[in-house]
Amino acid sequence: MTDPVVEENAETAEKVTGHKRLERNVTLLGVGALVAVSIGGVVEIAPLFWIDNTIEEVDGMRPYTPLEQAGRDIYIREGCYTCHSQMIRPFPDEVERYGHYSLAAESMYDHPFQWGSKRTGPDLARVGGRYSDEWHVQHLINPQSVVPESIMPQYSFLADTNLRVADPVATLEALAIVGVPYSETDISMAAEDLASQGDPNVPAGDLLDRYPKAQVRDFDGDPDRLTEMDALIAYLQVLGTLVDVNSAAAQEELASETGR
Ligand code: HEC
Repeated sequence: MTDPVVEENAETAEKVTGHKRLERNVTLLGVGALVAVSIGGVVEIAPLFWIDNTIEEVDGMRPYTPLEQAGRDIYIREGCYTCHSQMIRPFPDEVERYGHYSLAAESMYDHPFQWGSKRTGPDLARVGGRYSDEWHVQHLINPQSVVPESIMPQYSFLADTNLRVADPVATLEALAIVGVPYSETDISMAAEDLASQGDPNVPAGDLLDRYPKAQVRDFDGDPDRLTEMDALIAYLQVLGTLVDVNSAAAQEELASETGR
């Protein structure tokens, strides 16, 4: 009578021997490894060819104007992101305080993202239009003068510093390379657009046709020159104002339900 345990052991030993053979044959092992790695590679790489499908489109989203972009660069230069996030999470308390939760498409033209992970100050994803330009000027010059308990640093030098963008055309070109859909006209007109959006004395041309909802006015209360304050406030005032979030969120939900 054969012992069932011994029989089972013999079976396992047989399997081990099979694998051992593979391990001891360099060619066989090489081919096996190649097959395994290729499967992994295909699984990881193939979806990238269809990545465009995964980017939801929402109405209203457009690239930043050169002035808003300059303001954004100042925002990054000054490290505003170390205290402010731009990402409203879908929790009732956040939505109640800051407005509709952020949609992925709302930051699709942000390079790099300003989502942030630290909130010493409030989230700024929908701060556009919440305060007047005058409030922002006053607040940036001296935050404590409008919010006495504020620990935000003072940025009064922004109002005294003329806006200098080294090469507005190159800035837009660089962004176009990473996928921001600036047109040829947007790029060639970058310097003119930059000057006209914040200066009521310079005709804005077709800026508004190319950048719908762009706010064209003097932002810093000093119409005679374009300052870093103009650029930063132009940027703050556009945050969260481009997309009609309620209809966009409905669109998105419908799309995921119908599996599009
Ligand atoms: C040291 C942290 C800190 C830094 C850096 C900082 N802030 Fe603030 N910010 C705060 C705090 C705290 C508040 C809330 C109190 C207040 O309104 O001043 C605030 C409030 C604000 C508000 C009002 C938001 C609201 O919904 O009431 C704006 C706008 C703002 N900051 C913009 C900026 C910009 C632009 C920069 C960079 C130039 C910046 N902050 C840098 C801490 C910071």
